[in-house]
Amino acid sequence: MAGKFITFEGGEGAGKSTQIARLKERLEKSGVDVIATREPGGTAGAEIVRSVLLSGAARLYGPEAEAVLFNAARADHVDTLIKPALQADKWVLCDRFADSSRVYQGEAGVSDALIDQLQEVAIDGHEPDLTLLIDVPTEVGLARVTQRSEKGAEHAPDRFEQDTIETHERRRQLFLKIAENAAHRFVVIDGSQSLDAVEQAIWQAVEDRFLKAKTPAGEAQGAAENG
Ligand code: TYD
Repeated sequence: MAGKFITFEGGEGAGKSTQIARLKERLEKSGVDVIATREPGGTAGAEIVRSVLLSGAARLYGPEAEAVLFNAARADHVDTLIKPALQADKWVLCDRFADSSRVYQGEAGVSDALIDQLQEVAIDGHEPDLTLLIDVPTEVGLARVTQRSEKGAEHAPDRFEQDTIETHERRRQLFLKIAENAAHRFVVIDGSQSLDAVEQAIWQAVEDRFLKAKTPAGEAQGAAENG
């Protein structure tokens, strides 16, 4: 079975990492060879750029410079991890990808034209096959971030989590708009449900798209049943 590239997007505290771990486990149980990775990061080089970005060290240079850095990290991630994995027929689950740049750096004032140019180089044609947007009301997501930060210094809010509630709300609306404009690859999941319900909704989306064979009449049939 050919590799699939699935990205997870959403605001702060959407619950992406928990759901990526759950989807990975379910896919493995179905016999799928799958890796989970994240952005910014995922490779040694990109993790270095991650710490520069999330510490706020690059903020001084402005949103354009941050956009360049996110995409430099992405280029390395695509070249050295995502592309080879897909070529080896593995599935790749990625915590954030290019849509995060369009939302976060776009909201901060970077033009669509510059983002398009940077992404063209970084993504190199590797559009996700499916993007799961886990949508939660802004206050719910931020309350989860606050709860997490009370667990210790390693969970302290990063440079982007510290932005105002209005900024977080604008990001949420931008994600929803992008999802509407690219409906062919997006599924919006209500992340305010229980963890189990979110997991089920994600599984349904993945199963429907990739694991069920379509009959000529367009009806879905379990791929597993067909061997
Ligand atoms: P991370 O701790 O991975 O956040 P989360 O758990 O919310 O995914 O930090 C990534 C941060 O970087 C997050 O606030 C979103 C931001 N970001 C961008 O601004 N642009 C990007 O292109 C990416 C990938 C992330």
